[in-house]
Amino acid sequence: MKLARRLDRLPPYLFVQVNQRIAELRSRGKDIIDFGIGDPDLPTPAHIIERMCRAARDPANHRYPETNGLEELRRAIADWYEKRFGVTLDPAKEVLPLIGSKEGIGHMALCFVEPGDVALVPDPGYPPFSLGTILAGGQPYFMPLKEENDFLPDFEAIPEKAARKAKLMWLNYPNNPTGATADLEFFERAVHFARRYDLAICHDAPYTEIAFDGYKPPSFMQIPGAKDVGVEFHSLSKTYHMTGWRVGMVVGNAEMVNALFRVKSNLDSGIPQAIQHAAVEALRGSQEHVAEHNAIFQRRRDKLVKALSEVGLRARTPRATFYVWARIPEGYTSMAFTNRLLDEVGIAVTPGTGYGKEGEGYIRFSLTIPDDRLEQGIIRLLAWHA
Ligand SMILES: Cc1ncc(COP(=O)(O)O)c(C=O)c1O
Repeated sequence: MKLARRLDRLPPYLFVQVNQRIAELRSRGKDIIDFGIGDPDLPTPAHIIERMCRAARDPANHRYPETNGLEELRRAIADWYEKRFGVTLDPAKEVLPLIGSKEGIGHMALCFVEPGDVALVPDPGYPPFSLGTILAGGQPYFMPLKEENDFLPDFEAIPEKAARKAKLMWLNYPNNPTGATADLEFFERAVHFARRYDLAICHDAPYTEIAFDGYKPPSFMQIPGAKDVGVEFHSLSKTYHMTGWRVGMVVGNAEMVNALFRVKSNLDSGIPQAIQHAAVEALRGSQEHVAEHNAIFQRRRDKLVKALSEVGLRARTPRATFYVWARIPEGYTSMAFTNRLLDEVGIAVTPGTGYGKEGEGYIRFSLTIPDDRLEQGIIRLLAWHA
């Protein structure tokens, strides 16, 4: 048996190493408080589950779905974009439901990247941006996200050669892992850059609804001309606490949406229909719980950021996402500090280097853990530091 060489190009999956260590410590009876994974601890709201259960009992939903989803779902997505962002989308051509946005993000590279092509990718960044590029035979060019630039890429610093070879640019705001946000002026500059170098933009926006202090993150699609050069990926995972159900979407440029549809229609058979009905309910039903959940995350954020500053871990207070990106003390690597927190405090975090080289010097805390565990974690951190 001989595996394809492209697998060798995939970097070691750091999170697996951390998870193995957590499992080992737990098997020895150690209580580990897990601030690692960004997966909401609160359940999917009941009205969404009710709709899914009803749909599951209907034999019409027991058969193969269509790759492009139910028309009802595409319409619900378009209406949600109109209501939330004032963005008008054609549900037939500019909307494609996905089996979770990660799937679409990974497959998008197949639509653009040929062997030797470049994709511009943020560093630190959500790993599938670069991994999709690598699997398609391309080369990621990493755009550093520096704290002094508010974790936005500096377009002017991208070498002319890389920009000319690039087919795609990935952006993600509100940002995982840094918690940074971008305004419309930044998105305008991105559209301008895409026009200048004739490349496509993929903006990944699953966290626009997880925001605090009255802030409402914008959509890339709000920029006039965005639809000419790009698409936006979005997800129901974070907003509606539906990570386990696997439903997301891509919207925007019709040619790009259709290209992804062509790849997907040869690889998958769509989202189970009962889940599509649940997604319609999520988008069209009561949105009350979104604010309730955000209030919970905001409270957790404030407690954690305060505690981190008390133990000398400097962190900005994020306006959006449920992540806190903290600077570690000098003299440690992210991995070494992560291991120290695990072994000495019984706290699991994500090492910044799991998101790229520029993540060195940082760790990420996720706020998606129950309040009592968060409090316990804080008590342990303060006691460890004292
Ligand atoms: C930036 C970013 N994009 C996409 C996703 C994937 O979300 P989904 O559950 O829709 O696949 C995540 C999940 O953590 C994420 O952080």
